Amino acid sequence: MMNEKELLEWYLSAGVDVICGDEPFVSVKKPSLPTTHESVDTRPAITDLAQMSTVACKNARELCEKAQSLSELEKAVENFDGCALKLTANKTVFGDGNEHARILFVGEAPGADEDREGKPFVGRSGHLLDKMLAAIGVERSKCYITNILMWRPPGNRTPTGAEVAVCLPFLKKKIELIKPKVIVALGAPAANALTDEENSISKIRGKWLEYAPQPGVSIPLLPTYHPAYLLRNPAMKAKSWFDFLRLAKKISND
Ligand code: URA
Repeated sequence: MMNEKELLEWYLSAGVDVICGDEPFVSVKKPSLPTTHESVDTRPAITDLAQMSTVACKNARELCEKAQSLSELEKAVENFDGCALKLTANKTVFGDGNEHARILFVGEAPGADEDREGKPFVGRSGHLLDKMLAAIGVERSKCYITNILMWRPPGNRTPTGAEVAVCLPFLKKKIELIKPKVIVALGAPAANALTDEENSISKIRGKWLEYAPQPGVSIPLLPTYHPAYLLRNPAMKAKSWFDFLRLAKKISND
């Protein structure tokens, strides 16, 4: 049998960094733990995890290739078990809005309110986003809103690279199906995931970048502050206002 320290180390190596969520849950399958003779310090567990993650990403890409519509993609996500966050989340937050939207907003991951309701940006950040949209005369119902991740990370922790990697094909497929005129990345994680860069939001906010997943496809992408950041730093709302004015100008020129 593993002792407690070994068990904790095994969980850490598997990416578990909180031991309880906000809500109790009961439907989690027990992980198959290494047997006594497999030391937690040996590489196989890590290698297995990397392999599982590679398989999950491949599976995600295959499901995405088959989906012809957002509803087919949503069904595929319902049957997809390649992201462990699904086990701790209450609901899948696929996305919400107009499937022919000209503007697509992308955040990072659902928070507690979104996890409860199954819709993106419905909590305090979402209310601020609604006000910002209203200020430039854009109706939320005409946009599409989603996140990189479709499941809330326990305790709102930062998603791991593997979690982002396995959800990214679904986000890219949503973009392919919606074909928005512009993408607004709410925060650096969304901007970086879609541009394959590692920039701070203060460096790139308000600048038109490009989402170019393949030759011949290029969608203007505007990074701006995440509404949650604005709630914590209200003085930054002035800069966001300029970003939203740039967005308004861009869509009025279309
Ligand atoms: N923050 C996000 O990034 N997405 C949500 O849906 C809510 C809060």
